[in-house]
Amino acid sequence: MAREATINTLLEEERIFHPPEDFVKQANVNSQELYAEAKANPRLYWGMQAERLDWFQKWDKVLEWNPPFAKWFVNGKLNVSYNCIDRHLCTWRRNKAAIIFEGEPGDSRVLTYWDLYREVTQFANVLKGLGVRTGDRVAIYLPMIPELAITMLACARIGAPHSIVFGGFSAEALRDRINDAGAKVLITADGGWRRGKVVPLKKNADAAMTQTPTIEKAIVVRRTNQEIDMKQDRDVWYHELMAKAPLGCPAEELDSEHMLFILYTSGTTGKPKGVVHTTGGYLVGISTTHAMVFDVKDSDVYWCTADIGWITGHSYVVYGPLANGATTLIYEGAPDWPEPDRFWEIIEKFGVTIFYTAPTAIRAFMKWGRKWPSGRNLSTLRLLGTVGEPINPEAWVWYYQNIGGSRCPIVDTWWQTETGMIMISPLPGITPLKPGSATVPLPGIDADVVDAAGNPVPLGQGGFLVLKEPWPAMLRTIYGDDRRYIDTYWTRFPGKWTYFAGDGAKRDYHNYYWMLGRVDDVINVAGHRLSTMEIESSLVDHPSVAESAVIGKNHELKGQAVAAFVTLKARAFSELKSAKKSFKEIEGELKAHVAKKIGAIARPDDVFLTAELPKTRSGKIMRRLLRDIAEGRILGDTTTLADPAVIADLKQKYESRES
Ligand code: PRX
Repeated sequence: MAREATINTLLEEERIFHPPEDFVKQANVNSQELYAEAKANPRLYWGMQAERLDWFQKWDKVLEWNPPFAKWFVNGKLNVSYNCIDRHLCTWRRNKAAIIFEGEPGDSRVLTYWDLYREVTQFANVLKGLGVRTGDRVAIYLPMIPELAITMLACARIGAPHSIVFGGFSAEALRDRINDAGAKVLITADGGWRRGKVVPLKKNADAAMTQTPTIEKAIVVRRTNQEIDMKQDRDVWYHELMAKAPLGCPAEELDSEHMLFILYTSGTTGKPKGVVHTTGGYLVGISTTHAMVFDVKDSDVYWCTADIGWITGHSYVVYGPLANGATTLIYEGAPDWPEPDRFWEIIEKFGVTIFYTAPTAIRAFMKWGRKWPSGRNLSTLRLLGTVGEPINPEAWVWYYQNIGGSRCPIVDTWWQTETGMIMISPLPGITPLKPGSATVPLPGIDADVVDAAGNPVPLGQGGFLVLKEPWPAMLRTIYGDDRRYIDTYWTRFPGKWTYFAGDGAKRDYHNYYWMLGRVDDVINVAGHRLSTMEIESSLVDHPSVAESAVIGKNHELKGQAVAAFVTLKARAFSELKSAKKSFKEIEGELKAHVAKKIGAIARPDDVFLTAELPKTRSGKIMRRLLRDIAEGRILGDTTTLADPAVIADLKQKYESRES
């Protein structure tokens, strides 16, 4: 019911917001012609966009497409760190703020482009000194501090692909990612600040490193100053290495297809996928979209609130803004620390002009109330953005009025870890906005909505969102697993070489896209993709659990929340019966277990212990019915169930517990 309800609301959404005249006048893109130009010759268009960058050697060919493997800007040579730093040094931007940093405790730092050059080249020399060579993988597990940007740029400088693991992930998640990438060095910190408390990163890293044979050295940034263990011969302090490191390190002339980074994301199986992004196409894609979608000017203070550990942070906190010579803001902590107006205080403090955040955050701001933003001066803002999940029209309008003062266009940007860059989004100077719609594909992007056979569906109907042509920042493969790359993204519509994104979408009669959420077993919790399979395998790993089924259930703030249905092994069940343990205790244990295995973001809101799970005759768990139960709907089709009594019983017990 809830899902249909969302579609209905969207259908009723007819408000249109036109860009204000003064915004149009100054916009980076102010003509619709770009769409037609790009459509007429996408390769020529991307070749023109590539001129934004500095190349050591120009490419011979824009694209070589051996589906589903792409090479962009073939034989071009460039360096991402050079494009993000060095090329600005010979301009007035040398002394411009590259990074403005605000720590959660209130400390702040500004790094100019020159400062960034110094730190990055010194750290590149540190890495080299530890034996890191072009092609070696470096794992990074840091809080949102400038060293995160510095270390990733240093890796890019010497051509060592980085694998950044979000600081909220657990030791085990970190271990698995290090091992999959075969990383040689880990960069971490003693801790990071979150709601006034220390996140014990080094402690987690120590636990991970007991089982990571490839790690030779761990470099530790001092941030929170608590006591930590430093293992002799393995662990070294960042500041000690930096104190001895020389300034200046040549930027390697790397092939356009050189691997820039691996970033792990959830898929429909238990094992995270190492999404591989390369150098030239990625940087062309993100610098182009950053300039066009965010309309960035030299006078802007641009703030994307995403953690650098996610793709949004890679593309639109660090690489996109710096390639464009912009000023990018990094904030370490929580939006409600010490008070729920921290974001608005930061906007006021630094005069932020462009603000990009997630719908889940906007819904939290709404809940906290308009008094928080209204107490701060937000008049410097001129453009707002959202990403991560569909934004409901109510939240859109609240954001528009209360944060944007009804004068700032909102860019609702649809994209993925795999796409690397924004794919469907308004261009703020020319696209009329409809609250809740990501509007239309960007110039040079060929998207469609198709049915199960891969044929386009008529306007007004829902279907699968697909991408029909390669794009420069597309993932190149899954690290070490070309087969999985092909199977996951390219085989849904045989014979077509169409990329299937995993999302449902609908186009309205103006050809605007409305995202309808995931159609696979991936759920979206507060804008973060989690695999139901991965959570299920972490539950089954607990000694008491026999079987589990995880679903996403609608949640007011987070979009979706994790709900787990679990059957227990006989011994655990008898402990329950003999009252050695209560239901509550076991539920609590299981929630904590998932948080330990994956990270707090995956902790189920709801764990429901049941004697049996509903299955088809062939033994497949019917998650669809579990979703109906969790969201209080009338049960859908139950005819394929092996034993209909199971579901009736489950529904009754679940509802009596809820009440
Ligand atoms: O379901 C879509 C949703 O987030 C998924 C991608 O997640 P991830 O790879 O973690 O990257 C998130 C940030 C780019 C998509 O498959 N999603 C992302 N942006 C939107 C969205 N859904 C609706 N509207 C969006 N603007």
